Amino acid sequence: MHRQTSVDKHILVEGGSYIMEGTESQEARNACLIFSPKTDEAGSLAKMLRVFKDHDVNLMHIESRSSTRGPGYEFFVECDTRSGQLGKAIEEIREQCGYFNIISRDYKDNLAAVPWFPRRIRDLDRFANQILSYGAELDADHPGFTDPVYRARRKYFADIAYNYKHGQPLPRVDYTEEEIATWGVIFRNLTKLYKTHACREYNHVFPLLVDNCGYREDNIPQLEDVSNFLKDCTGFTLRPVAGLLSSRDFLAGLAFRVFHSTQYIRHPAKPMYTPEPDVCHELLGHAPLFADPAFAQFCQEIGLASLGAPDDYIEKLAAIFWFTVEYGLCRQQGQIKAYGAGLLSSYGELQYCLTDKPQLRELDPEKMGVQKYPITQFQEIYFVADSFESAKEKTVKFANAIPRPFGVRYNPYTQSVEVLDSKPQVGNLMSNISSEFQILQNAFQKLKA
Ligand SMILES: [Fe+2]
Repeated sequence: MHRQTSVDKHILVEGGSYIMEGTESQEARNACLIFSPKTDEAGSLAKMLRVFKDHDVNLMHIESRSSTRGPGYEFFVECDTRSGQLGKAIEEIREQCGYFNIISRDYKDNLAAVPWFPRRIRDLDRFANQILSYGAELDADHPGFTDPVYRARRKYFADIAYNYKHGQPLPRVDYTEEEIATWGVIFRNLTKLYKTHACREYNHVFPLLVDNCGYREDNIPQLEDVSNFLKDCTGFTLRPVAGLLSSRDFLAGLAFRVFHSTQYIRHPAKPMYTPEPDVCHELLGHAPLFADPAFAQFCQEIGLASLGAPDDYIEKLAAIFWFTVEYGLCRQQGQIKAYGAGLLSSYGELQYCLTDKPQLRELDPEKMGVQKYPITQFQEIYFVADSFESAKEKTVKFANAIPRPFGVRYNPYTQSVEVLDSKPQVGNLMSNISSEFQILQNAFQKLKA
């Protein structure tokens, strides 16, 4: 693949992170080092660069700036991991530096590297190129496997998502009569159950989706309308996804309050069954609760916890997501209700989950993280939350134990993730919070008066 020149593809965010855009193939083999020498003497960059030369490491890109982490300069260097003796160069540089960090897609081969993660919302565009399987590829046991018309339709949807870029309106789709009829069967059956089986928050939002987004038996709502509605409620947005994302990428989207959503519908031969998420699962299962502020916050916490986390913790967070966002139950006024999308989009399992057949356990991220679960059958175990707030608190506590040499904070103004790994940054954040606190105090005084 043609390599673009680095200079015009890089921007630097003042006071934030270095931000680099490159091609996937580059990133797969490159490691980015950020370091700040212990002493602030003239020529320190030249001295550092000599280390790479001595160990035959090719450098693809170099930047320097005033450090946000203390006095002096900070350097950002992108190196080709296949060249020279990178490990030795890293050791030597690290010894001479007060601050040192490695960021790499190929982190498994780099000692102490932090797995790459998106810093800006538009970095999510890169996920489209690294899906695990393209949405048009169906397994042999898929109901649409031998149906060429359905397969062509799936490719149409996969292509829409593949070409989608952040900031564009979500493409509107003319669903066929057959597709609308499939949606209609599911909509008609599930809406009979929501009043008695779904949680309070779901039943609060659902009529708003009927009024604002065209949730009707004879209409498949457009992702664009639903996404705009959610954005107004909680800042959550949808973006189309061309196929299966890795857990790491999928969870990272949640850190930005972005939910990757399919847009195709299941095969008409089996309207009450789908082996994979489809637009019915996304719009009837997931979308309504993203309009609830506490639920949205809970989902974002799972996403933030995943950024730069080691692989074993990604697996645990994916399991926590599974037992909450997909298959969660909650206790409301002495009754058990469903809030998981896998339940709210399945006529059979929504009824089954509230019978006495499955085992119910208290929500516990430590236990959920290691609990095995079936993907194609009804769950045998459900975890019950007292509220979305308490689920969030427990998840934050779990996330605090994830080994990561930094904290993360989402900045909604810039739609970017700030990596907090130095005292000056934390100090800045504390003074921001104290000015917010003054607003609160002021309002409180006025209310008292
Ligand atoms: Fe889902």
